[in-house]
Amino acid sequence: MEPKLLITLLLTTLLSSLVSSSTTITQQNKYSTFVKTSCSSATYPAACVKSLLPYASTVKTNPLRLATVALSTTLKSANATLSTITQLSKTKQITKWEAAVLKDCIGDIKDSMDEIKSSIKQISGIPKSVDKRFAISNAQTWTSAAITDQNSCLDGFSDRKVMNPAIKQKIRNSIVNLARVSSNALYLINHLSV
Ligand SMILES: *[C@@H]1O[C@H](CO)[C@@H](O)[C@H](O)[C@H]1NC(C)=O
Repeated sequence: MEPKLLITLLLTTLLSSLVSSSTTITQQNKYSTFVKTSCSSATYPAACVKSLLPYASTVKTNPLRLATVALSTTLKSANATLSTITQLSKTKQITKWEAAVLKDCIGDIKDSMDEIKSSIKQISGIPKSVDKRFAISNAQTWTSAAITDQNSCLDGFSDRKVMNPAIKQKIRNSIVNLARVSSNALYLINHLSV
């Protein structure tokens, strides 16, 4: 091959790879900006960005996908809460009262998880749904019910002062975090326009 031609070829390859990598970066910025903008008026914007930014490249700029990801991260968070409470309920030092409160709480969180799953089903059915507004309204109902159940767990604690403060604090922290990601998911569902 002629040296001049070879150099031209090399330069062309180099340039085109530079252009395509900068396009990728621009796309990624666009996707991150979409998550940040969508979260900016959420109930808990910082928690919203923190939990959803890792999924920016999956979400792209699709609001339905963002709402679905928000619900699935909520489900994961609920599962983590469930496992925290289940572990605490197995510790030998807890009193009968505490065991009863924890048992109620486990039931509340399991219900909350079922409701979030139902909400995910509604949202993921939207692209093929004939009545998209109805599906959104169902998803709102399920997500609100999930938040109510999480609050029921917390209420169980405030009622009973006999609760061990360390256990109470651990569960409270876990539920407060869960309630935040749930509220953010509800916010994103409320702002879907289909
Ligand atoms: C919940 O966590 C357990 C492990 O702790 C896992 O096996 C299960 O698949 C998780 N469920 C959901 C819905 O994330």
